[in-house]
Amino acid sequence: MNDTDYKLLDSQLRALIADETDSLASASNFVALLYNALNDVNWLGIYVLRESELVLGPFQGKPACVHLAIGAGVCGAAAATLTTQRIADVHQFEGHIVCDADSRSELVVPLLQSGVLIGVLDIDSPNVARFSESDQKGVESLCATFCELQARRTNFI
Ligand code: SME
Repeated sequence: MNDTDYKLLDSQLRALIADETDSLASASNFVALLYNALNDVNWLGIYVLRESELVLGPFQGKPACVHLAIGAGVCGAAAATLTTQRIADVHQFEGHIVCDADSRSELVVPLLQSGVLIGVLDIDSPNVARFSESDQKGVESLCATFCELQARRTNFI
């Protein structure tokens, strides 16, 4: 598998969303850009923090669970702890929520603006241990760029 060029993706993301004022459009393009750049990914999308739960936002892949509780599943764990969850085998993760039965490994990055949670980015792969440490760092960096550029908007999706 080729290594993903996260530096190139960062400039492509900036070109796509830096001057866009609509946060829904920006989030949708972020998700589409990353989904098409990664090999062996069956689902990729954003869950937005609404009140005290995560709600499905822009995504690519099969229709998915709409409401996720904070603390439940991999996404809920990322939201509750504000830390990235890189799960090599979701079958070994207690409480994993199955949306697409093809998913075997998962990378979930919390989306933070000035340390405040606004949602999570969830990436699923049908391959065990699809995501390396460098994927984690690359995706975290893209999420930081996305959140930084989103910060100029008045609302998130
Ligand atoms: N598997 C996730 C739920 C979201 S879907 O994968 C799209 C979880 O355990 O949080």
